[in-house]
Amino acid sequence: MSSGRAPTLDVHITGDDLRRALRHDVEVGLAAEAKWLSPVWFYDARGSQLFDDITRLPEYYLTRAERRLLESHAKEIAQRSGADTLIELGAGTCDKTRVLLDAFEAQGTLRRYVPLDVSEATLAAAACDLAGEYPDLLVHAVVGDFHRHIDRMPGGGRRLVAFLGSTIGNLDLLERSRFLFDLDCTMGSDDSLLMGTDVVKDVDRLLSAYDDAAGVTAEFNRNVLQVINRELDADFEPDRFTHVVRWDAENAHMEMGLRSSVDQVVAVRALDLEVAFAAGETLRTEISAKFTREQVARELFDAGFVVDATWEDHEGFLLTLASPYC
Ligand code: SAH
Ligand code: TRP
Repeated sequence: MSSGRAPTLDVHITGDDLRRALRHDVEVGLAAEAKWLSPVWFYDARGSQLFDDITRLPEYYLTRAERRLLESHAKEIAQRSGADTLIELGAGTCDKTRVLLDAFEAQGTLRRYVPLDVSEATLAAAACDLAGEYPDLLVHAVVGDFHRHIDRMPGGGRRLVAFLGSTIGNLDLLERSRFLFDLDCTMGSDDSLLMGTDVVKDVDRLLSAYDDAAGVTAEFNRNVLQVINRELDADFEPDRFTHVVRWDAENAHMEMGLRSSVDQVVAVRALDLEVAFAAGETLRTEISAKFTREQVARELFDAGFVVDATWEDHEGFLLTLASPYC
């Protein structure tokens, strides 16, 4: 196989930026009445690896369902978008993306692939692999935050923006509306958006997807405490926290958290902070919103998009192709 062109890597977030943002989040989130942390901190090298393990769990139907949808419809997506640039937000290991890249390769329109992620190590490794596998493709990776750096994505030509894995569901309603609106503002009339969203379903299936029997999701959740230990010289003992999951019917989202099993005080030495946890107190780490077709269409429309096509998998997952309406 040809080694292809070396990928380029733009860095909009450095390790220092991340540490500063983490300090801020920990200061605000752990001091709050109801403690919380932003999900962005899950994905250090070990967290990205654990997420990759999650995508292979029997209980975690989302990745398999989305991959099936891509396999069935990638050709149509490539045709309808006619894109020469594929931008992927929160690309991670870019694994499923290969299904899209293969369809574009067969069609012959795509010149450039632009994966964006906060996790530099995972992104750089994926970009190298892809540059080798698709020697005619320009791989232009961007280390950045999809809340802040969407306007730094390379422009020109026809672009397809992919936002897969139901990562949009990890934002709350207000964040989603802001994110989609900001995205719409950067898009031209020839661009399109491909978004994967999980569907509201039987609560037991949702609960097991986020609390698997092998305990990988629990490990993934607890890993965020190791990130804080390492980056901010804290002394969390992950064994003293249990992974908890619940379905919030009112907001139609899963909520993940870490429940302190004992009364304890954790020192965050880099911040000169002591955080008290009561036994049974929960630190919220993540939400994962579940949608109906109508909800997806409405949220997109409110942000300036019309739906061009929607496909649904039998396990309950949606892939939506949309474009800006003005
Ligand atoms: N798209 C992949 C990975 C999903 S996991 C899939 O479908 O399997 C979510 C990914 O989004 C992780 O790689 C994480 O590092 C990234 N991510 C989370 N918050 C982000 C943010 N604010 N900006 C950019 N990337 C982010
Ligand atoms: N985007 C994924 C989802 O909402 C992220 C995820 C999967 C996740 N499993 C998790 C986040 C467990 C926190 C805890 O499905």
